[in-house]
Amino acid sequence: MKRKCHIVEVDAVEVLDSRGNPTVFSQVILSDGSRGGAMVPSGASTGQYEAHERRDGDPTRYGGKGVREVVETIRQDIAAELVGVSADCQQTVDGLLCRLDGTEDKHRLGANATLAVSLAFARARARRMGKPLWQAVQSEGVHTLPCPMMNVLNGGAHADNNLDIQEFMIVPIGLPDFAEAIRCGSEIYHALGKLLKGRGLSTAVGDEGGYAPSLESDEQALELLSEAIVKAGYNTDDVRISLDVAAGEWLQADGRYHLPKADAMLTREELSAKWAAWANEWPLLSIEDALGDDDQRGWQTLTEEIGGRLLLVGDDLFVTQESRLLAGIRQRIANAILIKPNQVGTLSETVATVKTARRSGYVPILSHRSGDTEDPAIADLAVALGAPLIKTGAPCRAERTAKYNRLLTIAHDLGRNVKFGGSLLKKEKEQ
Ligand code: PGA
Ligand code: ZN
Repeated sequence: MKRKCHIVEVDAVEVLDSRGNPTVFSQVILSDGSRGGAMVPSGASTGQYEAHERRDGDPTRYGGKGVREVVETIRQDIAAELVGVSADCQQTVDGLLCRLDGTEDKHRLGANATLAVSLAFARARARRMGKPLWQAVQSEGVHTLPCPMMNVLNGGAHADNNLDIQEFMIVPIGLPDFAEAIRCGSEIYHALGKLLKGRGLSTAVGDEGGYAPSLESDEQALELLSEAIVKAGYNTDDVRISLDVAAGEWLQADGRYHLPKADAMLTREELSAKWAAWANEWPLLSIEDALGDDDQRGWQTLTEEIGGRLLLVGDDLFVTQESRLLAGIRQRIANAILIKPNQVGTLSETVATVKTARRSGYVPILSHRSGDTEDPAIADLAVALGAPLIKTGAPCRAERTAKYNRLLTIAHDLGRNVKFGGSLLKKEKEQ
């Protein structure tokens, strides 16, 4: 009897990410010759509950950041487990990876090992089906292109400047489609660059491609952004501002928040009051990680107070894990979730979290990491999972534009047969 199509080879290589640190590339080959490869990204402001990113810790190579042992784990342990396994089902493969690891946080194999293999298998399977990755993963028939959230000013842990807020993003929700939203974002990015230059400020960029000047305050960043939107010929109804505060980085043992660059110490009430005031003053669409990931009480009050007006996004709060999201849903905290596949470690677990989010009315937002690669998988996943938003940096640096360019080609292929996440959000806001 002819054996069904199955996995014949699982390989891996140590490669580099956008910060010049080692990361994992994995390749999976099937018995019909189909093959798929994938690279994994790496965060800087990582959440304490994220799945484990395994590194060698050998100080003589890459300052301890090498992933040679992870590569060996893939080539030996994971390959031994997966070779011969049917190529039909993503959940089966991901289930085997989870079982082989056997820990809560992928500590044994490393989430960088499991995700690289999981996505490489997804691509090999898609190749076998003769479909693009997004179509092979998609479960519903409706096609939605996400609205880009472009991080055009970088601060916090992503830049050596004096801004405490990690990300200032522009979100062109009022543009008619994805390609127009990208054009708008790029025009505003360049208008902002001109404004900075005109004031003698630096236009060097941070990890995610946004400018990283030292400014008088975080408020000045918001002023500059609003000005750039208008200078480029748009208005703040159509182009909203989103922030990633990454407040978990500021939370102290006594429950207060220390903003390191402004050297300010705030209580949770003071910090929440600041966000509420900003939501009144600026055209904000969303605030991400507005409070620390263990500050449940603060999150509940904040969600009650301003959750009806803007998206409160949990990144370090939920770390893409269904169990943490379910706890948040019960506690009524936040109303949107950042989706970073490497925070959980397999494609199937990522998909499960997105499905739970959608069922509960939480907006899923696909996201890159500050250390990323030219692998555009999250662009495909955003379309496959119908996420209305994607956060993947400024329209600058090839590891960021790789995702936008992938979406531009998917948009082109889909033609008119597609919805735009920005329009869906704008309609919701107007109701
Ligand atoms: P990270 O930043 O990849 O450094 O965690 C991105 C984010 O916080 O959203
Ligand atoms: Zn974040």
